Order: sequence, then structure tokens, then C-alpha cells
Amino acid sequence: MAPLVLTEPSACSDKKNNLKDTLQRPLQDLRISVIDQCNLRCAYCMPVDHCHEQYSFLRKEERLHFDEIVRLVNIFVRQGVAKVRITGGEPLLRENITELIEKISAVKGVRDLALTTNGILLPRFARMLKNAGLKRLTVSLDTLDDKIFRALNGGRAGVAQIIDGIRAAEAAGFISIKINVVVKKGINDHCLLDLVNYFKGTRHIVRFIEYMDAGNRNDWQKDLVVPSAQILSRIREHFSVRNIEPNYYGEVADRYQLTNHKGEIGFISSVSQPFCQDCTRLRLSPDGKLYTCLFAGEGKDLRTLLRNGATDEAIYLVTENLWKNRTDRYSQERSTGGGAKGILKKVEMYQIGG
Ligand code: GTP
Ligand code: 5AD
Ligand code: SF4
Ligand code: SF4
Repeated sequence: MAPLVLTEPSACSDKKNNLKDTLQRPLQDLRISVIDQCNLRCAYCMPVDHCHEQYSFLRKEERLHFDEIVRLVNIFVRQGVAKVRITGGEPLLRENITELIEKISAVKGVRDLALTTNGILLPRFARMLKNAGLKRLTVSLDTLDDKIFRALNGGRAGVAQIIDGIRAAEAAGFISIKINVVVKKGINDHCLLDLVNYFKGTRHIVRFIEYMDAGNRNDWQKDLVVPSAQILSRIREHFSVRNIEPNYYGEVADRYQLTNHKGEIGFISSVSQPFCQDCTRLRLSPDGKLYTCLFAGEGKDLRTLLRNGATDEAIYLVTENLWKNRTDRYSQERSTGGGAKGILKKVEMYQIGG
């Protein structure tokens, strides 16, 4: 697959004008969470004491249908979206997910289609996803240490299952898979080099993500964050790396090539180096709420509009208005001491997909 190269805001669309928000940030990406359920219970996202056996996830009829999602994608493409990412919860738990991939990949103007998964169901789905038109995959894997991994995910899966998933994806033809590693001090930060070593001979890209204060349930504390600069300097003690240019305007990861290997690594430093100034992402929850920030409190309810017979033009105007009036810069405000200013209850990560 040719990589999506978007270096300038204007380069992300062919003939249309991307909507711009109050900070002149163009709308480029849409992240669609298709289900709020997951087969893992990562403590930083869905702590088991909150998402327990009795927890009520969205019912089927509460979630947007595929045709509703595709209708919205068509509208957002007219507003500048060229890149779509499917997330969850765990998106491979959504029934007939490959049908949705097929439908979205057929939308004219969608130039990149990716999916973020925990990898458990990839042996079953990888080939079907590829055939349906999925271009890229991201797999979450925080450590190669089985004991730590199980402790992190509520004891629901072992490392071998995720590696099997990654192998299945390779066999299905996904060449450069992104491996997302959330780093939590004292939990997995002592074994990050293992991941670099393991993937260094492949084209996969290991990305270290600073632990974030997402949602309301993970008891986030700033001193549990390991700044990316620290991780990079530890890696530099063992590997020669060189900083490389972003793939496209607004890329969240800082990229580094391992000079003597095929592998690439990246750092997503939302806490130590927030990247709100060029945040181009819109997020849709499984029940049709539209969020302009990962840390938002309120989403705009599009499901009611869709189900009450609103025309495409009416929905276009509502979403246009939302993006044009957007002021979000949560991570930058957090770094200057503001943080959750005015946001009493944030959307949960498993409802909006990271
Ligand atoms: P590509 O570069 O297209 O592969 O996508 P990506 O880096 O946006 O994908 P991915 O979903 O893997 O993002 C990685 C992680 O970065 C997410 O899971 C979040 O933890 C974090 N992240 C992504 N977008 C944002 C954002 O807008 N704000 C913040 N604070 N964190 C983000
Ligand atoms: N901080 C940072 N990243 C997180 N993710 C989930 N919760 C958090 C958090 N609190 C990441 C997961 C996954 C993606 C969907 O979001 O690791 O890769
Ligand atoms: Fe599931 Fe991903 Fe949340 Fe972990 S981070 S509980 S894999 S949705
Ligand atoms: Fe975008 Fe909000 Fe993340 Fe800032 S904190 S980069 S505005 S999603």
C-alpha cells in the first residue's frame, strides 16, 4: 500500500476545502468507535471493578447501524476527512465488522482506512479484513512479559495470543503494523527494550504512548507517566536511532528510525509534549455521539438526527458548525495547569477508542 503522505493541511484533500476550526486546524481524520465492549480489561481504560459482569454496555439497537455510519462518513468526506480509523472497545467484537470495512473503503474520498485492535481475534479476521479493503492495522501490546501483560489486562489474555494475532496479520499481507505500548511507571517501563529488540528486524513500528488521564476511572496520576524523552534516552543506550519526518500533517507520533535495522519506533507524548496545535481528529462513538476531543465531556448526538429523518444537508450544517466552533486543546491546557477545566465527566476511552 502506498503510505498516505499528508504534509500540509491543504494536501489532505483533492478538490474540496477542509473545514477549519477556530484555531485554523483542518478536519482530516475520523475515528469511528463501533462498540464499547472489549474482551480485555486494561486497567488504564476499562478497570475491572468498573466494567464488571453487571456493567451495562450499549444495547445493539443503541449502536449506529452500518448504513448510518456510512452515511455520516460520506458527509465528513465532503468536509475534509480523508482518513478513517475504526476503533472500539474492541472493534473485532462488532458483528459483521468486515462488512463495514467494505462499505467504508468504497466511499470515494476515503484514502486511508485503518483499525486499532488488541489483536486477540486477528487469527480469525485478518484475512477477511484485508480482503474487505482495510489498509493498515494497529495492535496494542504493552509488554512481552506474560505475567505483567496479564496483570495489565485483567488476566484475560496472554502475550502469545497477541503475537499469534500479529503473525496472522502479517500472513494476510499487513506489512507495517503499528504496535501501541502504553507506558506506566513501575508497571511496564522496565521492559520496553524487549519490545524494540523483538520487532527491530521487522517493518513494524513500536510506539510508546504516555499514560493519559483519559476517562474518569483509571486513577491517573502524573507521577505514573514516564516522559518520552526518558524512554528515548534509555533506548539510545542500546540502539542508534535517528529522528525522521512525520508521514503527514498532524501525525501524533514522533518517529525514529533504528539505523541498523528495518524497524521504526515512535513516541506519543500527549502529556510531556502535547500536540493539540495540529489536532485534526473527529471522533464518533458507537451510539452516534460526535466528539471534537478525546477528553471531551459532551458529544453531539447525531443518532437522534439520523433516526428522526434529518437530511444530509441538515446533518452537514450541524457538524460543520461543530468543527468551525471547535476550541479544544485539553492536553495543552493540562500542561499549563488547566486540565479538566469545566469538564466534570469525560468520555471513557473504551467509548471513543483512543
Ligand atoms: P496513524 O498515524 O494513522 O497510524 O494513527 P494514530 O497514530 O492516530 O493511531 P492510533 O490510534 O494508534 O493512536 C495512537 C494513540 O495515540 C491513541 O490510542 C491515543 O492514545 C493517542 N492519541 C491519538 N490521537 C490523539 C489525540 O488526538 N489526542 C491525544 N491526547 N491522544 C491521541
Ligand atoms: N493512556 C494512553 N493510552 C491509552 N489507551 C487506552 N487507554 C489509554 C490511556 N489511559 C490506548 C491503548 C490502545 C488505544 C486504543 O488507546 O493502548 O492502543
Ligand atoms: Fe480493550 Fe483497548 Fe481498552 Fe485495553 S485499551 S480494555 S484492549 S479497548
Ligand atoms: Fe486533540 Fe483533544 Fe488530544 Fe488535544 S487533547 S490533541 S485537542 S484530542
